[in-house]
Amino acid sequence: MRVAIWQSQPIAHDVGANLEALSAAAVDASFDLLVLPELFSTGYLFDDRTQVAALAEDPHRGRTAASLAALAGRHQAVIVAGMATCIADQVYNSAVVVSGQGTLAIYHKIHLFGAETELFSAGVHPPPVVSLPDGTRIGVMVCFDWAFPEMARSMALRGAQLLCHPANLVLPFCQRTM
Ligand code: ACM
Repeated sequence: MRVAIWQSQPIAHDVGANLEALSAAAVDASFDLLVLPELFSTGYLFDDRTQVAALAEDPHRGRTAASLAALAGRHQAVIVAGMATCIADQVYNSAVVVSGQGTLAIYHKIHLFGAETELFSAGVHPPPVVSLPDGTRIGVMVCFDWAFPEMARSMALRGAQLLCHPANLVLPFCQRTM
């Protein structure tokens, strides 16, 4: 399996530009699994909940999901991406797992970090474990979730072989811990 990681520098709140930058970066890349940062399509910083709510998308039918599915389809790959989602008036800091068929799984970050608690609702569902076409089982968590060992343990106990971890790290502890 070829795993790719894109360390992007998003333009704040410009989803179109960030999706175009991803397409351009991926055009010559070869991968079976691509992992993108936390909130890759909007950037990480927001003034308030209204600002992030205006950019949060439907994780199945929004433009980011559509763009990721098209890219995954072109590469016959699976993409794990951090993005802001909106479901039933709640805004989440989420990660989506997307193939050429569309969005396979959605995870809403449980452990919100710092000011994120004023922007997003916390997820209440366990992190997903998803089977890739080759049978590899991936688990998904978002940034500060790393600090809680139960997250990785819960996914390992459900058969995860690889943890995909979209992140916007602000402190050096995670890298050392991993
Ligand atoms: C973080 O959870 N983005 C630090």
